[in-house]
Amino acid sequence: MIADRILAWYDQNKRIFPFRGTRDPYAVWVSEIMLQQTRTETAGAYYQRFMERFPTVGALAFATEQAVLKVWEGLGYYSRARNMHRAAQLIVRERGGEFPGDIALLQALPGIGAYTAAAIASIAFDTRVPAMDGNLIRVMSRLSHTADSMALPSAKRALYRYALSVMPLDRCGDFNQAMMDLGACICVPGTPDCALCPLAGDCGAFAAGDAEALPLLPRAVPPRAVDVAVSIITCEDKVLLYQRREKLLCGLWVFALGEGACTAGDVISSLTRQGLAVNLIGHIGSARHVFTHRIWNMELYHFAAAAMVGVSGAEWVTLAELDALPLPIAMRAAKKKALSILGARKLDHGANINTGKD
Ligand code: ADE
Repeated sequence: MIADRILAWYDQNKRIFPFRGTRDPYAVWVSEIMLQQTRTETAGAYYQRFMERFPTVGALAFATEQAVLKVWEGLGYYSRARNMHRAAQLIVRERGGEFPGDIALLQALPGIGAYTAAAIASIAFDTRVPAMDGNLIRVMSRLSHTADSMALPSAKRALYRYALSVMPLDRCGDFNQAMMDLGACICVPGTPDCALCPLAGDCGAFAAGDAEALPLLPRAVPPRAVDVAVSIITCEDKVLLYQRREKLLCGLWVFALGEGACTAGDVISSLTRQGLAVNLIGHIGSARHVFTHRIWNMELYHFAAAAMVGVSGAEWVTLAELDALPLPIAMRAAKKKALSILGARKLDHGANINTGKD
């Protein structure tokens, strides 16, 4: 049977990760959310830090959103962290902190879709439900030799039914994770290593000789490139940071951003409209960041503001505060520049004080 063979293979070959070996549904949830858009190796390190900082659903619920975003900093797809925070608050408020095991209750929580609900229910509660991530879709479409486009909801439903039909009655979480490991290590996209596969004898695509062509996936939409001016605006020992309200990077802190308008002149006009008088110190570099749907081609500027005037949605922050706030990876190059500008000012200031004492 497929289930026996894949579980025996898993017992010998399973990958070792920090998030494996627990059946605490909170821990499984944290890891599965991280794993949605992040490589397993990267997610493992973040998982450990996250669990140290927020070891229980209650600890997460009572944290501030900024503290959660700070621990998530660098992982990307920050709505995952905001949704987890909201879900933790719901679990504490409405269920006394008890994590639900029921698929429908899980799916009612923010940020938990069919895949994540199935992963939590199977791994933490041994519920018999296939967790159809990219790996399972690939493995199951090859095993069942399904050549229908996965853009069709009916094809996805049929594949789910097939996966359920080969799932064992117990060790359901192990079965899902075994299929994920097979998909990640052997039954990979494009170049499956069928010679090593424990299921080659069960596989319709292997028999037909077309495993590398499956599954048929919808073509991905390429991200759209936009020019963005990133302005480090300093005044004395502080820099101006804006908290994003937009869907992309909501809640995170960024320098002044001008999308589409990238010359220093464009930036000065826009800042003047916000009531900020600035002098250009210089163009200090370029950077690029690729999001799923966007590419930011960034030009970095340094401006000096005449005064620390209040700007709606923004704060003047010190070097230490800049380091403590959650900033997205897209701001990494600019943050490095800002830290060195503010760091140099601190040193100058220290040197002046020392000179005064001499
Ligand atoms: N990808 C998503 N969840 C996973 C898990 N539990 N094990 C391995 N890869 C995964």
